[in-house]
Amino acid sequence: MILVGPPGAGKGTQASRLVATYNIPHISSGDMLRAAVKEGTKLGVEADGYMKAGKLVPDEVVIGMILERVAKDDCKNGFMLDGFPRTRPQAQALDQALTKAGVALDAVVLIEVPDSLLIERAVGRRSDPETGTIYHLTYNPPPAEIVGRLVHRKDDTEEAVKVRTEKYHSETAPIIPFYMEKGILRRVDGVGNPDDITQRITAVLNDV
Ligand code: AP5
Repeated sequence: MILVGPPGAGKGTQASRLVATYNIPHISSGDMLRAAVKEGTKLGVEADGYMKAGKLVPDEVVIGMILERVAKDDCKNGFMLDGFPRTRPQAQALDQALTKAGVALDAVVLIEVPDSLLIERAVGRRSDPETGTIYHLTYNPPPAEIVGRLVHRKDDTEEAVKVRTEKYHSETAPIIPFYMEKGILRRVDGVGNPDDITQRITAVLNDV
């Protein structure tokens, strides 16, 4: 399955809860790219400038990275994609690869959050590099003893979130009709308590 939504919609927060329930790997293109940047790989060096500015990394870089990942053994019983696909060419490349592998997507869950909430959510985000837990300074405050080690993403500035939101509307929103036509798009209201949103997504997935 795929989780889609604007920057700060709660994809990462929800994915980490859902994969525990369904026992499938969480494949986040953003996390994979950030790991490549940190390691200084060729792919990471290429991606870094785009990411800092809030722009999308070119399709040819991301498509290869994700198709290689979903072909691994731990994806045989399913997987949850978060942040991919993000453009029509990415959706088409995934579709072709899955068709060739005889795999059908069960659902594409669109987490809907109005633009007016996205900047505050992203700017207040802090991640724990040791556990991967995502916090928010207001909505999900971290314990005081770990605050010193938390990471504030380079692209979580007001300026970059505006660019990311524009890119979402211009580049990613066009994949929604692609999945609607396939009859697998499910819309979930992403405003409210994260526990309630997990329940909404679970209810949708139980119907699939
Ligand atoms: P990526 O890492 O995928 O970022 P994103 O899609 O912009 O999404 P975020 O990680 O910002 O948000 P999220 O929806 O996961 O929200 P979260 O749960 O953390 O991509 C980063 C960059 O990598 C891109 O800009 C691009 O450059 C590149 N990239 C990645 N994939 C690519 C691709 N396929 N093609 C090309 N380039 C690609 O929540 C956010 C905050 O809100 C947290 O603090 C959280 O605690 C809080 N929160 C969560 N839920 C709630 C709630 N219900 N109420 C209040 N607060 C909440």
